[in-house]
Amino acid sequence: MKLLVIGSGGREHALAWKLAQSAKVSTVFVAPGNAGTAQEPKLQNIPLNTHEELMAFCRENHIAFTVVGPEAPLAAGIVDDFRRAGLPIFGPTRTAAQLESSKDFAKAFMARHGIPTAAYQTFENAEAAHDYVKQKGAPIVIKADGLAAGKGVIVALNEAEAHAAIDDMLLDNKMGNAGARVVIEDFLQGEEASFIVMADGENVLPMATSQDHKRLLDNDLGPNTGGMGAYSPAPVVTPEVYQRTMDEIILPTIRGMKADGMPFTGFLYAGLMIDSNGAPRTVEFNCRFGDPETQPIMSRLDSDLAELIQAALNQRLDQVDARWKPQTAVGVVLAAENYPDSPKKGDVIEGLENAARHGKVFHAGTAADAEGNIITNGGRVLCVVGLGDNVSDAKQQAYAALAPIRFNGMQYRKDIADKAIQRKG
Ligand code: AMP
Ligand code: GLY
Repeated sequence: MKLLVIGSGGREHALAWKLAQSAKVSTVFVAPGNAGTAQEPKLQNIPLNTHEELMAFCRENHIAFTVVGPEAPLAAGIVDDFRRAGLPIFGPTRTAAQLESSKDFAKAFMARHGIPTAAYQTFENAEAAHDYVKQKGAPIVIKADGLAAGKGVIVALNEAEAHAAIDDMLLDNKMGNAGARVVIEDFLQGEEASFIVMADGENVLPMATSQDHKRLLDNDLGPNTGGMGAYSPAPVVTPEVYQRTMDEIILPTIRGMKADGMPFTGFLYAGLMIDSNGAPRTVEFNCRFGDPETQPIMSRLDSDLAELIQAALNQRLDQVDARWKPQTAVGVVLAAENYPDSPKKGDVIEGLENAARHGKVFHAGTAADAEGNIITNGGRVLCVVGLGDNVSDAKQQAYAALAPIRFNGMQYRKDIADKAIQRKG
């Protein structure tokens, strides 16, 4: 069968690469893809963008199903459009995607269904928001309600920062429409983890656990980014934390969405904050797989991803299992000069062919130039994944694999997976 993956990042490279490993799959088209998906066996890039173009392509090419990588098309209702046209697609409807596209929607949903998360209030009026911050004190977290490409969350360590963030969003309109409403919530202490599941509206199939590294610099310093590296599994998610997350967050979310008339289908990503007692709380929901979490998680998946997604599309997720390699996978992101502010594009990337000996190189912001060089074309350029029998081995493999890769201004963290190594060695 032929499949379509929508998106152009490292997440989409990893999903398409994994789907292509299925004996049942002849071609995975990627729209629009990147220089990595262009080179991969059984993958083919197609330069299509609009829902209409994509639907026409699926009809003409008898695409068995489509998988959506990023949140923007989901929030724009691509699943609704495909379903209306009778085309199979894996992802949430526009209404269900509000779990990610509106923080206020997600918080109100969690409050209604008793799902653990930080206490909050939503504001459109700056004065009322300032008063709330004065009453609550710092640290406190200010979030733009809408999608803001990872830039909509300010963890304010003092009240002045909180007031400034409120003015930026509500008075100066710095986040546009996304910041016309803000959620202000309590600061949560603990360690973060990413808990991602497949959902078919009723049943869930958990993916392997993982942990992202959101800050640009080592030791979690510097600005927030889309994610500078991830590893799987995450030892902070002990069997007890796993069970509590399923019982207190994931299953109530799937039941609640169904009860509220918007069953959740697709990948559901709960960003967790796990406190020192092992109590998980929801920091955010995403309505899609994580990036870079997908790259190490897919590197560990031993099951046929195409079969799992078919089971989800047929509401049979309760009848399948996902098998995972026992190894740990560590993925390190190589980012462009000036990421995350204004990443520089067009630098030639060297050494890619020598990287493959130790690990798998997933492309994100890459393109091919007229001479056939692979060049940088976005903020996060590559994610290099190593596998190992323990976390230290996996980390060593990932860094050995990336060692030959070079481009101007290349930035990466040296401490990916160190939190897991401290826990497990
Ligand atoms: P979000 O986009 O909601 O995931 O927020 C981005 C990052 O901000 C998270 O990964 C956390 O590191 C941090 N963050 C968000 N909300 C909170 C909170 N309530 N307490 C502490 N940190 C938070
Ligand atoms: N890595 C975080 C995200 O995908 O939102």
